[in-house]
Amino acid sequence: MYAFDRLRQIIFMITKDDIAKGYDKIAEKIYVSDTFYNEVMAIEKNWHGDILDAGCGQGPILQKLAKFLKANPKSEIPNPKQILNSKFQIRQLVGIDISDKLLEMARKKVPEAEIIKADIDAMPFADNTFDFAVMVDVFQYLCQEHERNSGVSLRGVPPEASGGTTKQSQIYEDCFAAARNDGKRNSFACGFANALNEIYRVLKPGGKFIVTVPNKNWLLFDEYIKRRKNIQPVEDHFFTFDEMAGLLKKHGFKIEKYRGADCFRYYAPYHKYEMWLAMFFPWMHKRMKKIIFKAVKAV
Ligand SMILES: C[S@@+](CC[C@H](N)C(=O)[O-])C[C@H]1O[C@@H](n2cnc3c(N)ncnc32)[C@H](O)[C@@H]1O
Repeated sequence: MYAFDRLRQIIFMITKDDIAKGYDKIAEKIYVSDTFYNEVMAIEKNWHGDILDAGCGQGPILQKLAKFLKANPKSEIPNPKQILNSKFQIRQLVGIDISDKLLEMARKKVPEAEIIKADIDAMPFADNTFDFAVMVDVFQYLCQEHERNSGVSLRGVPPEASGGTTKQSQIYEDCFAAARNDGKRNSFACGFANALNEIYRVLKPGGKFIVTVPNKNWLLFDEYIKRRKNIQPVEDHFFTFDEMAGLLKKHGFKIEKYRGADCFRYYAPYHKYEMWLAMFFPWMHKRMKKIIFKAVKAV
């Protein structure tokens, strides 16, 4: 435990290259239950227009949305119980990511979408382009502005912290090898504030931002943290509801809706009970593993 803490104190700054390289290496291993993506989809009843998936990975959300592209003859409503009265008039789907491997996988899996290598930090889109921006399981891997500005961060995952297999450790060692401050601010992990400014900029007025974060007030958080093994190349930041809500508000978003969710990997059996309880005690949504926010670009 001491060695682990010492390692965490080693100061280094993980760069985007390291992050991209790390994701290239774990691309095939990334697995999140489809049910989680359905929970994300269900927070909006009227997906439409131009939609951006920022940090799209293999494109699981884009795959779901592609069924509703205007020109797609296979268009159908996937879960009529959850997504009622939807117009589903989707004009275009765009996904961006920095991992070449994940981009390649997304292009194969969602040929209907335009998949572009681009950085959330400086997106190659004009102001007011999209009706929706989605960030699923991405926000928590960005960094705080003070970490980024000082070039000091503890957010890379040391091999030992993975507690994992030699194979996993190798991934982190590779990431670490280059994870030193190179003096170029923009090569560092994108910051929370900058990401929100960019999302705000590319959304049309009234456009919607759907973002998921892991929840620090999750009922099983302490238990989970003791046991978990990291697999991502960047350590994730768990948010309290208030912390994320504050960030959204500060950057010009108005929260329209939120709900609890679970990625169904470790604690799946509990989640259905949580959801039942939440019908009677809505505060339960703030105590689940993940929180999905639907925010609107306020003007
Ligand atoms: C845990 S994965 C989630 C991928 C996808 N959204 C999903 O739900 O499967 C995080 C993704 O964020 C991407 N990412 C991290 N920093 C990024 C940045 N600055 N710009 C674009 N993508 C980034 C990674 O390459 C990776 O694909």
